[in-house]
Parts: sequence; structure tokens; C-alpha cells
Amino acid sequence: MSMTVSTVLFALGILSLASTAVESEANSPVPISCATSGADFTDETALVECPSDCPLWQFSVFGSGVYASVSSICGSAIHRGVISTAGGPVRIQKLSGQENYLSSYGHGIKSQTLSRWISSFSVSRAQTIPIDVSGQPKATALPNSAKKTVKKNLKKANSGNKDCKVDIAFLLDGSYNIGRRRFNLQKNFISKLALMLGIGPEGPHLGIVQVSENPKTEFYLKNFTQPKDVVFAIKEVAFRGGNTNTGKALRHTAETFFTPENGARRGFPRVAVMFVDGWPSDDIEEAATVARESGINVFLVSVAKPLPEELGMVQDRGFVQKAVCKDNNSFSYNMPSWFSTTKFVKPLAQRLCAEEQMLCSKSCFNSVNIAFLIDGSSSVGDSNFRLVLDFIANIVDAFDISNIGSKIGAVQFTYDQKKEIGFHDYTTKEDTLAAVRGIRYMSGGTATGEAISYTVSNLYNPLKRGTNRNFIVIITDGQSYDEIRGPAVSAQKEGITVYSVGVAWAPMEDLKAMASEPKESHAFFTKEFTGLHQFVQPIIKGICRDFTAPH
Ligand SMILES: *[C@@H]1O[C@H](CO)[C@@H](O)[C@H](O)[C@H]1NC(C)=O
Ligand SMILES: *[C@@H]1O[C@H](CO)[C@@H](O)[C@H](O)[C@H]1NC(C)=O
Repeated sequence: MSMTVSTVLFALGILSLASTAVESEANSPVPISCATSGADFTDETALVECPSDCPLWQFSVFGSGVYASVSSICGSAIHRGVISTAGGPVRIQKLSGQENYLSSYGHGIKSQTLSRWISSFSVSRAQTIPIDVSGQPKATALPNSAKKTVKKNLKKANSGNKDCKVDIAFLLDGSYNIGRRRFNLQKNFISKLALMLGIGPEGPHLGIVQVSENPKTEFYLKNFTQPKDVVFAIKEVAFRGGNTNTGKALRHTAETFFTPENGARRGFPRVAVMFVDGWPSDDIEEAATVARESGINVFLVSVAKPLPEELGMVQDRGFVQKAVCKDNNSFSYNMPSWFSTTKFVKPLAQRLCAEEQMLCSKSCFNSVNIAFLIDGSSSVGDSNFRLVLDFIANIVDAFDISNIGSKIGAVQFTYDQKKEIGFHDYTTKEDTLAAVRGIRYMSGGTATGEAISYTVSNLYNPLKRGTNRNFIVIITDGQSYDEIRGPAVSAQKEGITVYSVGVAWAPMEDLKAMASEPKESHAFFTKEFTGLHQFVQPIIKGICRDFTAPH
């Protein structure tokens, strides 16, 4: 037994010795491409061979001396002066990630800044080590623990940039206008953008739709979530040619791309970035409206604006303004040409990651806070209380609930108040509905006025209000023992629109006293709890009407 073990150990020892020997003997450099990045290597040190004549514009280099591992190895080596554009061998050394990679100009390459990255590398001249007569290798080996940390950091790099939670469709221009050559530059630009965004399972996801005569979805959000895979997939996209039917492609994207089956994630802003070289052949305005109404933020990157002598051919000169959000110019971007686009990568990535600016697609369904005030007094009774919860659940069901979308709160009141659901408690509709249905009936008296004040100060005031529109929906079956008008008016003064729904003994004058103007569309009454369902649609429609009305 013990002999077998030691034999095995011995054999393993031999094997590992043998493989070390092979590695150090095989000291010839590994040929790589111009675009190969530090992240493509997992060993802590490697000897590579850069090809000659790598086009300088193709390089993404982040940092100076210490380079973020997304950087091109050959680009970094040229930047550092280790090799010339003639290429040659380069030794790379893996380093840990760091903050504030600095930009500098070196040997024809301007490197870029990067606020942080998970791992780095440095480059040095590859000494062609002459066979040492003493037989001692010159390289100093890292201690084993250091190797492990490096490997672990590399694994961690793959979760993506958690500060940029967006789902993006890039609409590539694949028309005859752009042509094959610039099409490839465009793909290159998008690869750089993908790396800068920090694609990963927990960060941004992207897919590609090619704009040509007819749109073609090249890949969806869920197909690739690792930067390397995305970059490879972009490289594989084949030029199609045809007219620049951008409008048609945008409509295709709005209708088929952002579905859960195709990988669109709940609660993530949806962004369509259209690249237009020159001008679109078709009408873009209607498609853009459809896209925005279905919750997509439309960006337009125009490259090579029409020349004065070309303007006659442009179907709609205002296409940029018609395509994007009306607010201001933060949704349109112009690059003068496909050459020297590097400096546009970072600012564009920053805009695409600016979640709070995704206002283009705000609607009454994804941008409201609704607090339900539920009468839990003794007169309601257990089974009617269920009907009230059903009624609320049916209203809630119409809204898009998420951490960046609509939010639901609930307070049950008797003489007392109980916060049943806080605005930040649940971030999905399923969880919110389950919480609504799980509310336990309290039973007691009725103090509606105090309940309103409680809701404003305990549910609303701690809330970072943001840009959502605010609502209170009160459901009561009787007369309140306290004063209601004052608390209701002050809630309205705080910008909260009040709906009141009365059942059985709730006096109409109280309901109207609490409700926002116009009273007729904000106060509802039914004799029976079974009649509540008829108010579901009027309240949803009312909220949407209030949403678009000025404050
Ligand atoms: C993307 O995923 C879909 C569905 O899973 C699959 O049909 C399609 O072939 C994938 N596309 C690519 C480019 O891998
Ligand atoms: C555009 O509007 C957004 C949201 O209102 C704002 O945050 C941003 O600063 C504006 N950008 C410009 C360029 O005015």
C-alpha cells in the first residue's frame, strides 16, 4: 500500500520535472496577433513574438509601463519601446490589477487611461538567453503563492463591470455606403467599445444586428458574455451590403431583440446604438418612436456626415434628431471618420453606462412609485380583505417593477399603521405580488388621516425620489375617525397624486376630500368588495394620464 503511494508520488515527481524541463527548453516565442491581449495569457510570464506592421490605429493600449490586461501586447510593447513596428519577441510579466492606468504617448501610440482593471502586465525585451555553461536559469521564479493570486484574479476578471448594468444592441452599418473596408474598422471600434464597457455575466451584455437591405441579428445578448467571445463573434460578422435601412433594422430590434428568451434582463436599461455611415436610406422616425415606446433608449452614432454636395441625396436631413431622445444631445454622437476613433471609445462607453440618463424610455409603467394604503379595520373581514389584496395585485401587475423601474409600497392601517412593503423591499414583480398576497389582516379601528401622514413620512420621505412619479392609492370601507383632508392635501403638496377607493360605508365626500383633482377621475366607490375589480383599469389608465400631465 505505502509502496504504491510512494511509487505514484515518485512517478508524479518525474512527470512534473519532465514537464518543467520541456517548458524551459521550449523557450522559443509563441507567435501572437496584433490584437492579442495580456488577458489571453494565463501564465505569470510568457515569451511571445509580435508580427510586423501591425497598424497602429488598431491597438488598444491602457496604461503606461504597467498595462491593463485588456491591452494589446504588441501595442504595449511598441508603446514601451520594447519593439518597433517591425515586430519581434517580447517577454510579458503578469501583474496584479490596479487603479488609474495612465495615458501617455510613446513611439506612435497614444495609450489610454482606465480607472481600474482586474489584472495587468508589463513588457520587456526578450533576452535571447545564451546557453549558460553553468546551467543556472536566469529567470527568477515567483513564489508559488504569488502564482495562485494571479490566477485567481484572472478568473475574477470575468464577471464584468458591475457598475454598468445595461443590455445593448449595436446596429452595425453593413450597407454599400460604408463598404467592406470601413465595415471592418467599425467592427474594430465596437470590439474596443465592448472591452471598455466591461462585458461580463454581471456587467453589460451586447448583441449585434446588421443593418443592410434587410436586418440580420448576428447574435443576441445571451449568446456571449465573455469579452473574448464577444470580440471573436464581432470579428466573425460578415459584411452584407445593400441599402442603409436603419429604420427597418431598428424596428426589427425593437420587436425581436429585447425579449427575455433572447437574453434581455429584467430591470436593465435597454439601449440600441445605431451606427450610421453617411445617412439612412429609409425613414427612421417612426421606428425610433416604436423603440422608445417599448422601453429602448435609442443612441445614434453618425460617422462621416454628408458632405454639402451630398445633401441633395439625403432623404431626411434631420434624421439624427428624429431618431434619438428629444431632451438634449446626449443620445447622439458624431465621429468625423472611421479613422482615429480611439479617443471616442471611452466617452461613448461612459454614456452607455450612465443609467440615470436613460430617461428616453421612461413610461407610466416603468417610472412610478405607488403606495397602497390598506384599511385593515374590523368591519372589512377576512374574506373581503383577500378581495382587496387581489385588487391591489391586479393593479401592480400592470407595472414594470425593478430597482430602476416602478416601485410598490404598502401600509396597512387601523388606528395603527404597519409598513407592509417598503419601496426598496422587492425588485421584481413576482416578489412584489407574492408580498402583496401575503399581507396579514390586522383588524381594528380606522384612522385614515394618520395613515396618509405615516405613508408620506415613512414610505416616501426616506425614498430617494429620483425621477419617478409618485402615487398613493387609499382603499377604505368606512368613515375615518380622524381628520383626512389636511394630511391628503399635504401629501399632494409633496408631489404625490392621491387616488381613493371606497367600499360599503365609506362616505363619498371623504373619498373626494382625499383624492387629487379632478376628483371625478381620482375617487371611486362601490357598495360591495366584489365590485373593486371594475376600478383596476380606470386606475391604471388614470396613473398613465397623470404621468404625462404636468405636476
Ligand atoms: C445564439 O443563441 C441562439 C439561441 O440559443 C442560437 O439559436 C444561435 O445560434 C446563437 N447564435 C450564435 C451566433 O451563437
Ligand atoms: C441631458 O439630459 C440628462 C438628463 O436630464 C442630463 O443628465 C445630462 O446632463 C444632459 N446632457 C447634456 C449634454 O445636456
